[in-house]
Amino acid sequence: MRAFASLSLAVLALASFTASSQVPAKTPAALQVAPTKVALTPPMGWNSWNYFFDKVTDKDIRDSADQIVASGMKDAGYIYVNIDDTWEGERDASGVLHTNAKFPDMKALADYVHSKGLKIGIYSSPGPKTCAGYEGSLGHEQQDAALYASWGIDYLKYDLCSFIPAVMQKQAPSDKPAQMRLMIAAYDKMNRALKATGRPIVYSFCQYGWDAVWEWAPATGGNLWRTTGDIQPDWDRIYAILSQQEGLEKYSGPGQWNDPDMLEVGNGKLSLAENRTHFSLWAMLAAPLLAGNDLPHMKLEIHAILTNKDVIAIDQDRLGRQGARIYSDGEVDVWARHLAGGAVAIAVVNAGSDRYPTHPFHLNLRKLGLAATETGKDLWTGKTIELTQNMPLDLASHDVLLVRIDSPHALAGK
Ligand code: GAL
Repeated sequence: MRAFASLSLAVLALASFTASSQVPAKTPAALQVAPTKVALTPPMGWNSWNYFFDKVTDKDIRDSADQIVASGMKDAGYIYVNIDDTWEGERDASGVLHTNAKFPDMKALADYVHSKGLKIGIYSSPGPKTCAGYEGSLGHEQQDAALYASWGIDYLKYDLCSFIPAVMQKQAPSDKPAQMRLMIAAYDKMNRALKATGRPIVYSFCQYGWDAVWEWAPATGGNLWRTTGDIQPDWDRIYAILSQQEGLEKYSGPGQWNDPDMLEVGNGKLSLAENRTHFSLWAMLAAPLLAGNDLPHMKLEIHAILTNKDVIAIDQDRLGRQGARIYSDGEVDVWARHLAGGAVAIAVVNAGSDRYPTHPFHLNLRKLGLAATETGKDLWTGKTIELTQNMPLDLASHDVLLVRIDSPHALAGK
């Protein structure tokens, strides 16, 4: 049995969710002073890795930027066009990093992306090499940050990779606390280098959720931090990542976000239901929404998922409070997220596979702190839906019911 299904945890989760329903519509004072002026809502955009991997070129980035505009994704909020690993070339005698042949002129590329009203992101590692074996930033942090700023870069993903063997294990063999200090210092070093440029640059930590990164990333300048290893376009992997977000809600907020990794919507063999559920749950998690699909060849139904404005509004809700899995019943999980103005979003997910018969599921509104009848909007059909205590719900395998309730009734018993 999953830990989160245990009664005591469910009660705890319920208590925190119902207590939070007393939060006024206004953003709480603690959250008004954001740690930085970037990423006040979870960053939205597109990243090259999940589709192009190491094959990405200047042209792919330009074509993707064009598509983000032409497809309406820009209007839906997708702003960052992020180049992942494999753009790096060699350093010259002064240590200045150059691009490789796939990216002939990074400044010109950044200008192009900016001319579309979009922003541009780049990737590096605190180690000597990136994960794909290209040049990293070790010993060149200020130089690289200044270079990014001179190109007009707006976002940096900083991926631990070779820093582990080259620095952590080498300088502090078998001393985990010392290794962790070295890692934090490396992220801090690039943070200072980025801040010293004076350019607002979103700072994304990629170190796979190790060493409770959510506890130290905000103080180290992180606007988002990966909470797990890599995502794959595969339901089991997506569901495993979802399950690892348990308890991280309290670390998330304006300017600082848990990052369950980039979207796989439209990639691999994910079914339509799986794509829908993946997108819905990333919105419930207030996750960065970085699409990673082949934009020029995007199918209409994938476009419809990625540009569903109601679902994006859940993700981008100005309160910035991450949702939580409140309870599970058999193979069905029920998530809730508290939104600005007293609204609530509910996601019911059938995680059961076709191989097993699903047992009948009845929605327990009371466990969510809601009244016996609530009226909301089904965000995938666009229709009004009435939810009632104990109503049976028949969801296809891996599908989701996502409902926004703008004016929930007073809690039962109040
Ligand atoms: C991984 C990272 C991926 C991608 C890749 C590039 O470590 O998690 O998201 O950036 O490196 O080499």
